[in-house]
Amino acid sequence: MAKSVVIKCQNVKKVFSHGSVSAEVLHGISLEVYSGEYVILFGPSGCGKSTLLNIIAGLETVTAGSVMIRRDDITKFNEKQLARQHRTRIGMVFQQFNLIRTLNVIDNIALPQVFSGINLKRRMRRAEHLLEIFGFQKYRNYNPNELSGGQQQRVAIARALVNNPWIMLIDEPTGNLDSKAAEDVMQLIRQLNEKSKRTILLVTHNPDYVTHPHRVLYMKDGQITRQVVNRPISDDIVVNDENDEALLRAAALSSIKDSPGG
Ligand SMILES: Nc1ncnc2c1ncn2[C@@H]1O[C@H](COP(=O)(O)OP(=O)(O)O)[C@@H](O)[C@H]1O
Ligand SMILES: [Mg+2]
Repeated sequence: MAKSVVIKCQNVKKVFSHGSVSAEVLHGISLEVYSGEYVILFGPSGCGKSTLLNIIAGLETVTAGSVMIRRDDITKFNEKQLARQHRTRIGMVFQQFNLIRTLNVIDNIALPQVFSGINLKRRMRRAEHLLEIFGFQKYRNYNPNELSGGQQQRVAIARALVNNPWIMLIDEPTGNLDSKAAEDVMQLIRQLNEKSKRTILLVTHNPDYVTHPHRVLYMKDGQITRQVVNRPISDDIVVNDENDEALLRAAALSSIKDSPGG
């Protein structure tokens, strides 16, 4: 079976301008990510990783170049199309967790569905389901600041999965975590790829993780300088709605099993 391309950047450039000062931070990035692949974008702080990830997410515009998500060039999308693609195809996870402090765990997980126009009953059913899959029922009514950093990041990952996205874009997920919690979160991310077959593009400057993904793209000063293939993507990657829940459950449960600290 031919590998299918899910993300394709061609000659992406980004210039930030403030008044008369401007700086090109991405100098013509080209990359492809395949369905079911786990790719790490690795490079030092300031090299442009987050800018690139935000462009792929449709949160930041390009100065030049194209960004294809499946068959759509998202640089041609209007606001409404961008919002829709962000909602339905992409789950994002950030270093700062970005949970809403005034909402409890279940409402944080349910929140992205509000923007999809899903009714309250279905929203809560899906969120409760994810809570159960992640083994988080006892924290249902906790506020984010009552949880550890590792727990908050797991809630953020559950929230990113609530709309069943094809693609997970993950930016420095362990930057605010101690090493044990970081290991647990990275294990969960691996399982989401291996068992739940999510396509993952993860940004990090931490060299400890470069053995995890299928492929590592090394980035420096706004350019991809080389890539290392760790292992091939398996050919049997088919995600559809029927098996999605089962796969997700397998991923979340095995990561809980492997990391009893939670
Ligand atoms: N909104 C912005 N305005 C101006 N410069 C920015 C903006 N966002 C990022 N930059 C600059 O672009 C470069 C790349 O930043 P970033 O993508 O955050 O790097 P990384 O994620 O690899 O640490 C840095 O020099 C940063 O200061
Ligand atoms: Mg960054």
